[in-house]
Amino acid sequence: MNGKIKKNYQIKINEYQKHNRLYYQKSSPVISDKDFDELKKEIIGLEKKYNFLKSNLSPSKTVGFKPSKIFQKFKHKVEMLSLSNAFNEEDLFNFEKKIFNFVNKKIKFDYSVEPKIDGISASLIYKNGKFTEGVSRGDGKEGELITENLKTISDIPHRVNNKDFPNNIEIRGEVFIKRKAFENFKNNFANARNAASGSLRQKDPLETKKIPLHFIAYTFGYFEENRFKYQSDFLQSLKIWGFQTSKYNKVIKNIKELILFHKNFENQRFELDYDVDGLVYKVNDLQLQKRLGFTSNAPRWAIAHKFSANNAYSEILNIDIQLGRTGALTPVAKIEPVNIGGVVVSNATLHNEDEIKRKDIRIGDTVKIERAGDVIPHVIEVDLKKRKNNSKKFIFPIKCPSCGSKTEKEFNNSTKKYDAVRRCTNEGYDCEKIAIEKIKHFISKDALNIDGLGKRVVEKFWEKKIIKFPQDIFKLDYDKISNLEGWGKLSVSNLKYSIEQSKKVTLDRFIYSIGIRHIGIENAKLISEYVVSIKNFLNLIDKKNMNQFLNIDGIGGVQIESFKRFFNNTKNYNVVIELSNILSIKKIEINKKGKLKNKSFMFTGKLNNISRAEAKSLVEKNSGSIVSTVNKKLNYLVVGQKPTNKKIQQAKQLGIDIISQDEWNKLLN
Ligand code: IVH
Repeated sequence: MNGKIKKNYQIKINEYQKHNRLYYQKSSPVISDKDFDELKKEIIGLEKKYNFLKSNLSPSKTVGFKPSKIFQKFKHKVEMLSLSNAFNEEDLFNFEKKIFNFVNKKIKFDYSVEPKIDGISASLIYKNGKFTEGVSRGDGKEGELITENLKTISDIPHRVNNKDFPNNIEIRGEVFIKRKAFENFKNNFANARNAASGSLRQKDPLETKKIPLHFIAYTFGYFEENRFKYQSDFLQSLKIWGFQTSKYNKVIKNIKELILFHKNFENQRFELDYDVDGLVYKVNDLQLQKRLGFTSNAPRWAIAHKFSANNAYSEILNIDIQLGRTGALTPVAKIEPVNIGGVVVSNATLHNEDEIKRKDIRIGDTVKIERAGDVIPHVIEVDLKKRKNNSKKFIFPIKCPSCGSKTEKEFNNSTKKYDAVRRCTNEGYDCEKIAIEKIKHFISKDALNIDGLGKRVVEKFWEKKIIKFPQDIFKLDYDKISNLEGWGKLSVSNLKYSIEQSKKVTLDRFIYSIGIRHIGIENAKLISEYVVSIKNFLNLIDKKNMNQFLNIDGIGGVQIESFKRFFNNTKNYNVVIELSNILSIKKIEINKKGKLKNKSFMFTGKLNNISRAEAKSLVEKNSGSIVSTVNKKLNYLVVGQKPTNKKIQQAKQLGIDIISQDEWNKLLN
């Protein structure tokens, strides 16, 4: 019975994909819009009726086709980053603490508080008062040029005539559909956000116009001669210039009051016209915002305080073990599908072996499951009253379920405890599941970002023995692929195109893409700035000189050990060498304009009125670099209070300039 339903569903999905492609990519539909809408409705109807039906290619998941082919790409002058999340009071205090640490003292500042609208962000470029370009967020660095579609939104002024309107500014905000209006489209889209995003990415702006979109402005991107002192003043001016701003924007003095406001707002949120998934708190003082700056993907001066998650009860049918790219064995509860806040959930993570024991979770138990935003649903607790006599304790495997290797819990030298996570000891590509996960990581957004080669395709290609290692992606037999089910000429040529495009990659992305444990994008950036070129990187690896990375501020023993372990495995090493021959890996361009160009610094002792993190960030903003061991490459040793005498001695011996904080300040001007 279920098999038949699934088959029928799959036929409809294939049909939908075919017409979708004809419509969006070839602009030559062979069925009427009405029939196309009907097909979408049928698929969504089936998904609603049978919650086991799921497909990433479903109209409930995809909106339009990949936009890259329809719209021109557009590089953001100022990246469109995301926000870090806070879920509770502790997260908020930690957020504030990080600010205090960065500026090296406890300071008082106000917050601009704004609802976090759950829509699609867009950036509007105004030159001399005229709306010239509108861009979607894309991957944050590069978006799609969707000017004409944005122009159909009546909240977006095409011209701003106010005298004080800046000559050159990017105004950023959220495009969304109001709850009431969404009622009319709810058969076509899974939620209001999808409706907004689908509508924005229509090829024909007239299609966009069919869905009543709105725009609320909340920040700026590039802004020539920004004279605003406060975010709240900027929001006021946005309103005067004719943009919509949220009427719930507010200035709040401290965390205690933020929490109160959040509590009240959370209870009222369903009375709002549009979906909000939290509140955004921004440091109101723009000068302080500038000083705090950004980490690699979010500002230090803002945080999103999410509303509490949705939860539901369901039964654990089984427990599976999933293997991650770094060999971590993660237990996942397969649950009786349950709708949590509009999304059907059938898997929930149990985190690790210790967590199962601690919460005494057994197969057959009824458990409380929480789903918060994009975070993977997880099991909160067991409803013990509902425990059955035949509930089964789960025996955690001690051998890797994929390759049979020994698993282990690592001993953490700093906490003096064993890790909660058990890992497969196979580092390379010999463990099938780890290898697949490594390839998925290799193609992911922050790595090579290969559009059109999603996780499911990787699994399929692996199964068909088309790929075994990341480098196989660049040697694909496209004739063979075009004969596979679900692949047509067009999708094959799209795949070929995006693979070719991905061959040009920056060194930091490449280092991240090879998937060394503890080397996330931030650390990969640090390493790439240190080695500058792939040649130097490989040289260091060949000479087993990884300890040199200890010179990099931010890289420590844990990372070095991980590097050594990774490259001790010959398969890992060979993959990196082969890839380096295939790819065109760009050198890191270091901003050489700053006052401290080609100068390296090291700090010892406590500095006045400034944290190490800020001092480091100041050096880097001015094109200098930081090293953390005294060697010949060091230009200046900056000495604060209670310095390490050994460092001063070493610097003296090597003839390095030893300067005070004041002298360092003078260099910076
Ligand atoms: S400020 C550098 N303010 O939330 C951060 N974002 O997770 C710039 N959003 O991509 C964003 N309401 O789509 C900001 N009042 C608000 C917002 C808001 C919703 C969205 C936006 C952003 C995402 C960040």
